[in-house]
Amino acid sequence: MRKKIVAGNWKMNLDYNEGISLFSEIVNMVRDERSGDQSVVICAPFIHLNSLSQLAAGVIGIGAQNSHQQESGAFTGEVSAKMIKSTGATHVLVGHSERRQYFAETDQLLASKTVTALQHNLTPIFCIGETLDERNNGSYYQVLETQLNDGLFHLDEADFRRVVLAYEPVWAIGTGLTATPEQAQDIHAFIRAKIEAKYGMAVSDDTTILYGGSCNPSNAAQLFAQKDIDGGLIGGASLKSRDFTDIVKTFNS
Ligand code: PGA
Repeated sequence: MRKKIVAGNWKMNLDYNEGISLFSEIVNMVRDERSGDQSVVICAPFIHLNSLSQLAAGVIGIGAQNSHQQESGAFTGEVSAKMIKSTGATHVLVGHSERRQYFAETDQLLASKTVTALQHNLTPIFCIGETLDERNNGSYYQVLETQLNDGLFHLDEADFRRVVLAYEPVWAIGTGLTATPEQAQDIHAFIRAKIEAKYGMAVSDDTTILYGGSCNPSNAAQLFAQKDIDGGLIGGASLKSRDFTDIVKTFNS
Protein backbone atom coordinates (compact mmCIF):
# COMPACT_ATOMS: atom_id res chain seq x y z
CA MET A 1 0.00 0.00 0.00
CA ARG A 2 1.29 3.44 -0.79
CA LYS A 3 2.33 5.77 1.94
CA LYS A 4 0.55 9.02 2.75
CA ILE A 5 2.90 11.91 3.36
CA VAL A 6 2.56 15.52 4.35
CA ALA A 7 5.87 17.29 3.71
CA GLY A 8 6.65 20.88 4.61
CA ASN A 9 9.05 22.97 2.53
CA TRP A 10 10.41 25.88 4.53
CA LYS A 11 12.35 27.25 1.51
CA MET A 12 14.84 30.01 2.47
CA ASN A 13 13.05 31.03 5.65
CA LEU A 14 13.77 30.93 9.41
CA ASP A 15 17.11 31.63 11.06
CA TYR A 16 18.56 29.01 13.38
CA ASN A 17 16.55 29.90 16.50
CA GLU A 18 13.33 30.51 14.60
CA GLY A 19 13.67 27.10 12.97
CA ILE A 20 14.20 25.31 16.29
CA SER A 21 11.27 27.06 17.86
CA LEU A 22 8.82 26.39 15.00
CA PHE A 23 9.96 22.78 14.71
CA SER A 24 9.54 22.15 18.45
CA GLU A 25 5.95 23.37 18.21
CA ILE A 26 5.30 21.21 15.15
CA VAL A 27 6.71 18.06 16.79
CA ASN A 28 4.53 18.53 19.85
CA MET A 29 1.39 19.20 17.86
CA VAL A 30 1.91 16.54 15.20
CA ARG A 31 2.80 13.82 17.72
CA ASP A 32 -0.86 13.64 18.77
CA GLU A 33 -2.43 14.14 15.38
CA ARG A 34 -0.84 11.90 12.81
CA SER A 35 -2.29 8.51 11.99
CA GLY A 36 -0.29 5.29 11.85
CA ASP A 37 0.18 4.95 8.11
CA GLN A 38 1.10 8.56 7.53
CA SER A 39 4.51 10.21 7.44
CA VAL A 40 5.30 13.82 8.15
CA VAL A 41 8.47 15.37 6.77
CA ILE A 42 9.96 18.86 7.06
CA CYS A 43 12.35 19.97 4.32
CA ALA A 44 14.49 22.64 5.92
CA PRO A 45 17.54 24.75 5.02
CA PHE A 46 20.86 22.95 5.53
CA ILE A 47 21.71 24.85 8.73
CA HIS A 48 18.75 23.23 10.49
CA LEU A 49 19.11 19.61 9.45
CA ASN A 50 21.23 18.25 12.26
CA SER A 51 19.37 19.95 15.11
CA LEU A 52 15.95 19.10 13.71
CA SER A 53 16.95 15.47 13.27
CA GLN A 54 17.78 15.35 16.96
CA LEU A 55 14.52 17.00 17.96
CA ALA A 56 12.40 14.91 15.59
CA ALA A 57 12.15 12.00 18.03
CA GLY A 58 10.99 9.62 15.35
CA VAL A 59 7.83 11.66 14.85
CA ILE A 60 8.93 13.66 11.82
CA GLY A 61 11.32 12.89 8.97
CA ILE A 62 13.79 15.58 8.02
CA GLY A 63 14.61 16.51 4.44
CA ALA A 64 16.98 18.85 2.65
CA GLN A 65 15.77 21.03 -0.22
CA ASN A 66 18.61 20.27 -2.62
CA SER A 67 21.71 18.10 -2.87
CA HIS A 68 24.66 17.97 -5.26
CA GLN A 69 24.99 15.30 -7.93
CA GLN A 70 28.70 14.66 -7.28
CA GLU A 71 30.05 12.69 -4.34
CA SER A 72 32.43 15.40 -3.12
CA GLY A 73 35.05 17.78 -4.40
CA ALA A 74 35.75 21.35 -5.47
CA PHE A 75 32.19 22.65 -5.62
CA THR A 76 32.34 25.67 -3.34
CA GLY A 77 29.09 26.36 -1.55
CA GLU A 78 27.46 23.04 -2.36
CA VAL A 79 26.31 20.25 -0.04
CA SER A 80 26.52 16.56 -0.92
CA ALA A 81 24.01 13.78 -0.36
CA LYS A 82 26.46 12.05 1.97
CA MET A 83 26.73 15.18 4.12
CA ILE A 84 22.96 15.49 4.27
CA LYS A 85 22.60 11.85 5.26
CA SER A 86 25.15 12.32 8.04
CA THR A 87 22.92 14.94 9.71
CA GLY A 88 20.19 12.34 10.25
CA ALA A 89 18.05 13.61 7.38
CA THR A 90 16.08 11.01 5.44
CA HIS A 91 14.65 12.93 2.46
CA VAL A 92 15.69 15.47 -0.14
CA LEU A 93 13.67 17.57 -2.56
CA VAL A 94 14.85 17.15 -6.14
CA GLY A 95 13.81 19.48 -8.94
CA HIS A 96 11.60 21.92 -7.08
CA SER A 97 10.39 24.44 -9.67
CA GLU A 98 12.34 27.22 -7.93
CA ARG A 99 15.53 25.20 -8.46
CA ARG A 100 14.57 24.58 -12.08
CA GLN A 101 13.75 28.25 -12.66
CA TYR A 102 16.35 30.20 -10.65
CA PHE A 103 19.23 27.72 -10.73
CA ALA A 104 18.72 26.40 -14.25
CA GLU A 105 18.37 22.80 -13.12
CA THR A 106 17.56 20.57 -16.08
CA ASP A 107 15.97 17.14 -16.08
CA GLN A 108 19.34 15.63 -17.02
CA LEU A 109 20.95 17.21 -13.96
CA LEU A 110 18.04 16.14 -11.77
CA ALA A 111 18.36 12.59 -13.07
CA SER A 112 21.90 12.43 -11.68
CA LYS A 113 20.99 14.18 -8.42
CA THR A 114 18.34 11.51 -7.90
CA VAL A 115 20.83 8.69 -8.41
CA THR A 116 23.34 10.19 -5.97
CA ALA A 117 20.64 10.80 -3.35
CA LEU A 118 19.49 7.18 -3.63
CA GLN A 119 23.07 5.93 -3.33
CA HIS A 120 23.16 7.61 0.06
CA ASN A 121 19.81 6.24 1.14
CA LEU A 122 17.97 9.52 0.97
CA THR A 123 14.39 9.43 -0.30
CA PRO A 124 14.12 11.85 -3.22
CA ILE A 125 10.91 13.86 -3.37
CA PHE A 126 11.00 14.52 -7.10
CA CYS A 127 8.99 17.58 -8.17
CA ILE A 128 7.40 18.12 -11.56
CA GLY A 129 4.94 20.73 -12.77
CA GLU A 130 3.98 23.00 -15.63
CA THR A 131 4.09 26.81 -15.85
CA LEU A 132 1.05 28.97 -16.43
CA ASP A 133 1.95 29.37 -20.12
CA GLU A 134 2.23 25.62 -20.52
CA ARG A 135 -1.13 25.15 -18.79
CA ASN A 136 -2.76 27.77 -21.02
CA ASN A 137 -1.28 26.58 -24.31
CA GLY A 138 -2.25 22.99 -23.61
CA SER A 139 1.28 21.55 -23.69
CA TYR A 140 1.25 20.52 -20.02
CA TYR A 141 0.78 16.78 -20.46
CA GLN A 142 3.79 16.76 -22.79
CA VAL A 143 5.84 18.87 -20.36
CA LEU A 144 5.09 16.55 -17.45
CA GLU A 145 5.81 13.47 -19.52
CA THR A 146 9.20 14.87 -20.53
CA GLN A 147 10.04 15.69 -16.91
CA LEU A 148 9.22 12.09 -15.94
CA ASN A 149 11.04 10.52 -18.89
CA ASP A 150 14.20 12.58 -18.62
CA GLY A 151 14.37 13.08 -14.86
CA LEU A 152 13.19 9.79 -13.39
CA PHE A 153 12.48 6.98 -15.81
CA HIS A 154 16.16 6.09 -16.15
CA LEU A 155 15.86 4.39 -12.76
CA ASP A 156 15.39 0.65 -12.54
CA GLU A 157 12.27 -0.59 -10.79
CA ALA A 158 13.90 -1.14 -7.41
CA ASP A 159 15.26 2.41 -7.31
CA PHE A 160 12.08 3.96 -8.70
CA ARG A 161 10.16 2.38 -5.82
CA ARG A 162 12.27 4.45 -3.41
CA VAL A 163 11.18 7.77 -4.93
CA VAL A 164 8.27 9.99 -3.90
CA LEU A 165 6.75 12.24 -6.57
CA ALA A 166 5.27 15.69 -6.12
CA TYR A 167 3.08 17.38 -8.70
CA GLU A 168 3.43 21.12 -8.20
CA PRO A 169 1.90 23.31 -10.90
CA VAL A 170 4.21 26.32 -11.00
CA TRP A 171 1.24 28.68 -11.36
CA ALA A 172 -0.10 27.46 -8.01
CA ILE A 173 3.09 27.83 -5.97
CA GLY A 174 2.92 30.70 -3.51
CA THR A 175 0.19 32.38 -5.57
CA GLY A 176 -2.91 31.42 -3.61
CA LEU A 177 -4.20 29.85 -6.87
CA THR A 178 -4.66 26.19 -5.98
CA ALA A 179 -5.38 23.62 -8.64
CA THR A 180 -8.95 22.42 -8.19
CA PRO A 181 -9.23 18.91 -6.78
CA GLU A 182 -10.41 17.80 -10.26
CA GLN A 183 -7.46 19.43 -12.04
CA ALA A 184 -5.00 17.92 -9.58
CA GLN A 185 -6.63 14.47 -9.73
CA ASP A 186 -6.55 14.57 -13.52
CA ILE A 187 -2.78 15.14 -13.50
CA HIS A 188 -2.11 12.63 -10.72
CA ALA A 189 -4.00 9.99 -12.69
CA PHE A 190 -1.97 10.92 -15.78
CA ILE A 191 1.30 10.58 -13.85
CA ARG A 192 0.21 7.24 -12.41
CA ALA A 193 -0.68 5.99 -15.88
CA LYS A 194 2.80 6.94 -17.15
CA ILE A 195 4.37 5.08 -14.23
CA GLU A 196 2.22 2.07 -14.99
CA ALA A 197 3.25 2.12 -18.66
CA LYS A 198 6.90 2.19 -17.66
CA TYR A 199 7.08 0.01 -14.52
CA GLY A 200 3.76 -1.85 -14.39
CA MET A 201 0.66 -1.62 -12.28
CA ALA A 202 2.07 -2.86 -8.97
CA VAL A 203 4.72 -0.13 -8.95
CA SER A 204 2.31 2.57 -10.04
CA ASP A 205 -0.16 1.55 -7.31
CA ASP A 206 2.58 1.81 -4.70
CA THR A 207 3.98 5.19 -5.77
CA THR A 208 3.22 8.12 -3.49
CA ILE A 209 2.29 11.25 -5.47
CA LEU A 210 1.95 14.47 -3.48
CA TYR A 211 0.19 17.64 -4.56
CA GLY A 212 1.83 21.01 -3.91
CA GLY A 213 0.86 24.59 -4.65
CA SER A 214 -1.04 26.85 -2.23
CA CYS A 215 -2.26 23.88 -0.23
CA ASN A 216 -3.75 25.08 3.08
CA PRO A 217 -6.04 23.87 5.88
CA SER A 218 -9.17 24.87 3.93
CA ASN A 219 -8.41 23.03 0.69
CA ALA A 220 -6.28 20.09 1.87
CA ALA A 221 -9.15 17.75 2.75
CA GLN A 222 -10.72 17.97 -0.70
CA LEU A 223 -7.39 17.55 -2.45
CA PHE A 224 -6.33 14.58 -0.31
CA ALA A 225 -9.71 12.93 -0.85
CA GLN A 226 -8.86 12.39 -4.54
CA LYS A 227 -7.96 8.83 -5.26
CA ASP A 228 -4.55 9.48 -6.78
CA ILE A 229 -3.43 12.20 -4.35
CA ASP A 230 -1.43 10.78 -1.46
CA GLY A 231 -0.64 13.91 0.49
CA GLY A 232 0.91 17.31 0.04
CA LEU A 233 4.07 19.32 -0.28
CA ILE A 234 3.35 22.44 1.71
CA GLY A 235 5.27 25.70 1.37
CA GLY A 236 3.80 28.82 3.01
CA ALA A 237 1.47 26.93 5.36
CA SER A 238 4.37 24.86 6.74
CA LEU A 239 5.74 28.03 8.36
CA LYS A 240 2.78 28.15 10.74
CA SER A 241 2.57 25.29 13.22
CA ARG A 242 -1.24 25.41 13.51
CA ASP A 243 -1.84 25.46 9.74
CA PHE A 244 0.67 22.71 9.09
CA THR A 245 -0.76 20.51 11.84
CA ASP A 246 -4.28 21.11 10.58
CA ILE A 247 -3.19 19.90 7.15
CA VAL A 248 -1.61 16.80 8.73
CA LYS A 249 -4.90 16.22 10.59
CA THR A 250 -7.00 16.20 7.44
CA PHE A 251 -5.87 12.62 6.83
CA ASN A 252 -7.53 11.56 10.06
CA SER A 253 -10.81 13.34 9.61
P1 PGA B 1 3.22 26.93 -1.45
O1 PGA B 1 4.58 26.22 -1.94
O2 PGA B 1 2.48 25.93 -0.59
O3 PGA B 1 3.67 28.14 -0.69
O4 PGA B 1 2.46 27.27 -2.69
C1 PGA B 1 4.61 24.85 -2.25
C2 PGA B 1 6.01 24.47 -2.67
O5 PGA B 1 6.68 25.28 -3.31
O6 PGA B 1 6.49 23.36 -2.36
